[in-house]
Amino acid sequence: MKSILFAAAEGLPFIKSGGLADVIGSLPKILKQREYDVRVVLPLYKKIADKYFDQLEYLGTLQIKSGWIDQPASYFQTEVDGVVYYFVQHQAYFERDGLYGFPDDGERFSFYQKAILEMCKMIDFYPDILHAHDWHTGMLAALTKIHYSSDWHFDKVKHVYTIHNLAFQGNFPKDILGSCLGLSFKYYEDGSMRYDGDISFMKTGIVYSDKVTTVSPSYAKEILTPEYGEHLDEILRYRQHDLWGIVNGIDVTEWNPQTDKLLAKNYTAKNVAKGKKDNKLAVQKALGLREAPDVLMIGMVSRLTYQKGVYLIAERLADIMGLDIQFVVLGTGEEDAESTFRYMEEKYKRRAVYYCGYNEDLAHQIYAGCDLFLMPSLYEPCGIGQLIAMRYGSLPLVRETGGLRDTVHAFNQYTNEGNGFSFWSFSGDDLVHTLKFACDTYYMNPEGWKELVQHAMNTDVSWEYSANLYQELYEIL
Ligand code: ADP
Ligand code: GLC
Repeated sequence: MKSILFAAAEGLPFIKSGGLADVIGSLPKILKQREYDVRVVLPLYKKIADKYFDQLEYLGTLQIKSGWIDQPASYFQTEVDGVVYYFVQHQAYFERDGLYGFPDDGERFSFYQKAILEMCKMIDFYPDILHAHDWHTGMLAALTKIHYSSDWHFDKVKHVYTIHNLAFQGNFPKDILGSCLGLSFKYYEDGSMRYDGDISFMKTGIVYSDKVTTVSPSYAKEILTPEYGEHLDEILRYRQHDLWGIVNGIDVTEWNPQTDKLLAKNYTAKNVAKGKKDNKLAVQKALGLREAPDVLMIGMVSRLTYQKGVYLIAERLADIMGLDIQFVVLGTGEEDAESTFRYMEEKYKRRAVYYCGYNEDLAHQIYAGCDLFLMPSLYEPCGIGQLIAMRYGSLPLVRETGGLRDTVHAFNQYTNEGNGFSFWSFSGDDLVHTLKFACDTYYMNPEGWKELVQHAMNTDVSWEYSANLYQELYEIL
């Protein structure tokens, strides 16, 4: 049986800040069902310790030496759905409010990565594939190949590196090489880890891994261009023959309107019209909106950042709210975006509401209650929101970029084909125009809308197909 170790900075069911956690929580489960020995390693954050510490089994403690770092790591494990989860504990580094975004992130995640490799030795587990995700684990392939080159156990380990978001790169001052990673300055000088005078964990992952993947075929193409390449397009073009774009799936057992315990009313594709009305009414009641089950409700569950197209919405808020709609927004993010939605709630009382925060339960209810799910992203490596929305019979309205382009197909009013709405250019005019079209379809062409909802709910958003591709990739290695 082939073994795979997923190394990441977040993963469900333990900890989530975004789509990365959805992927780490669902892909290993599917691979496990396909007879792989799959294990996941995560930092033991405060939130995880608070909730799960009593359920974790202690494995041991090691002194981790990495550059000037000389600190203990304790290891714990548990099992969920046959997948083994390891946790790396260092209270000062990880038991904080929040996951990352601290000034010492470079040091914290250098320690974490060295601790992962030392853990493999301690538990005598050398995976066939070490599958690292995003910048937090971008140094793993290089550290293995440089620090452990004389240890034959690590020889057979192949490295897959998945880019979930190229914009977050983990770039740190170059002295981190010596101080936190125990690496020679030559890796700065030869350019393999250098990025604009800094050291880049993301770039290092791209350069040193055996295969690089990203989370949709379109994004895999986009990042080869200067427009989307975040200044790494050149190095990505250099590695393009080892770069695969594999679209994400979601956990369709977890996200299932038929069994979801958080919904006011469960429903299937057969009774979605009634199910949606009941759930819409519940959201309206809970959030103080006008109780109108027939109004078109637009939902948005998102980090509120430039990437997500929030300023496009801000720019055309009056036009959007001029339509016959209700608008529900859940999320946190940039201050300007949050104040736009606060203003919206104030100005359009009982028609628009902004819930500022992270709320898993409310997210489920919005996916079920809304008719249209808005994701006008500037760029989107894959996007999980639109997949969940389709599963819940909410039609995604997206910009045609990255994974949104690969998963959402625009409504064709002449053939009734499609599973959502989309627009191409990143402009407020196109957003408003498409929203108007969606609104007209909802009110004036209910048969077309019904068909679209069926198409959306029948879209395969599971991991079945994409897990085959990961399997193929692992087998090649
Ligand atoms: P990204 O990872 O770029 O933020 P994705 O669409 O891939 O975007 O994934 C976002 C995930 O996080 C989805 O599962 C979405 O439902 C969830 N999410 C985002 N914001 C919130 C929030 N405020 N409360 C609850 N869930 C949220
Ligand atoms: C990142 C991307 C998002 C993707 C997620 C999971 O957060 O922004 O598009 O769905 O990772 O791969």
